[in-house]
Amino acid sequence: MLAEQLARVKEMKAGQDWLDYGVIKPIIIGVVGGDGIGPIISQHAHHILAFLLDDEVKSGKVQFNVIEGLTIENRAKVMKAIPDDVLAELKASHVILKGPTTTPKKGDPWPNIESANVAMRKELDLFANVRPVKVPEQGIDWMFFRENTEGAYALGSNGINVTDDLAIDFTVTTAQGAERIIRLAFDYAKKTGINKLTIVTKANVVKTTDGRFLDVAREVAKDYPEVEWDDWYIDIMTAKLVDPKRRTQFRVMALPNLYGDILTDEAAEFQGGVGTAGSANIGKRYGMFEAIHGSAPRMVKEGRLEYADPSSLIRAASMMLNHLGFTDRGKKLEMALDICGNFEQKLVVTGRPTGAKGSELCDYIMETIQDPNLEKRWQDYQPKTKAA
Ligand code: IPM
Ligand code: MG
Repeated sequence: MLAEQLARVKEMKAGQDWLDYGVIKPIIIGVVGGDGIGPIISQHAHHILAFLLDDEVKSGKVQFNVIEGLTIENRAKVMKAIPDDVLAELKASHVILKGPTTTPKKGDPWPNIESANVAMRKELDLFANVRPVKVPEQGIDWMFFRENTEGAYALGSNGINVTDDLAIDFTVTTAQGAERIIRLAFDYAKKTGINKLTIVTKANVVKTTDGRFLDVAREVAKDYPEVEWDDWYIDIMTAKLVDPKRRTQFRVMALPNLYGDILTDEAAEFQGGVGTAGSANIGKRYGMFEAIHGSAPRMVKEGRLEYADPSSLIRAASMMLNHLGFTDRGKKLEMALDICGNFEQKLVVTGRPTGAKGSELCDYIMETIQDPNLEKRWQDYQPKTKAA
């Protein structure tokens, strides 16, 4: 275990440059369906992406590659979080649109293999989990930078049952791992002019690893004198997200893996639930874009597949467009999602036959994207800033 983590440190130290999508041709977008509601919602998101990138596909700049086989049945058969042939295809892509995958837990009919998400984040070194949450009418505008390859997740499947009575898990912070996520968050705060950043840890108790995360933040902050930063403990931070007076003051957050997992679910709830929030998993070589919710096996069991909400994955698709530099299309898709999902809501997906089908929402979004008045329609819903 230690050797593996030290090898990671060595690799991170060696560094690697960010890919320049401007010069890559074709950019290969892998599309992975996953389990449960995954295949159907990823079809919807793929459909919208293909429409928006039609010119690029025709010119050979972009190529889609649908990757089969990342299913719990297959993974259980080969006893791997990601089967080798699937991993090879993932690695042949530049970016990946990924439907949710089943994560087996104790007591499930599946063997206790590692989560495909967690494995993919580690395999492709997707160190930054970037999750925006916005509720303009409440003044909420948050951007979370969740560390994605370390913390309690690094060795999450390597805990030890020392005796029948003693179980031990491990958590990992490396100086390099902390630095790259914290730097990305500071860069973002600076580049956007937000110039405000909050580091979240439990460094008062988890002194060594969280303590290190905070120490690294202190060092990195010196390179960003224009960014005002503070640090909060995860418990009070979780509470303060519910405080309407305080929560609007948070803007950019950087935090270790597990705290980021929990806090972003809470945050997404203000915006309409995890079904509405997208998630970008970014590394220097690869990017993976996914919903922040799971595969919803209950919906499949109860025959509600076609009522599954594709919004979260479509939101992730807009983040992919921005990441690849197709920011005009990314912005359009974001505006259409805001209009259809938050403002106008001509139809609402509830996950049940009482609401609209995912395909109907998808059509509604497609129509909205093509509206020449899209931007004006979106602007009309923005809270008016009070005149001074
Ligand atoms: C998420 C999910 C995953 C995580 C699960 C499915 C392993 O909750 O993307 O937030 O814990 O990271
Ligand atoms: Mg989560």
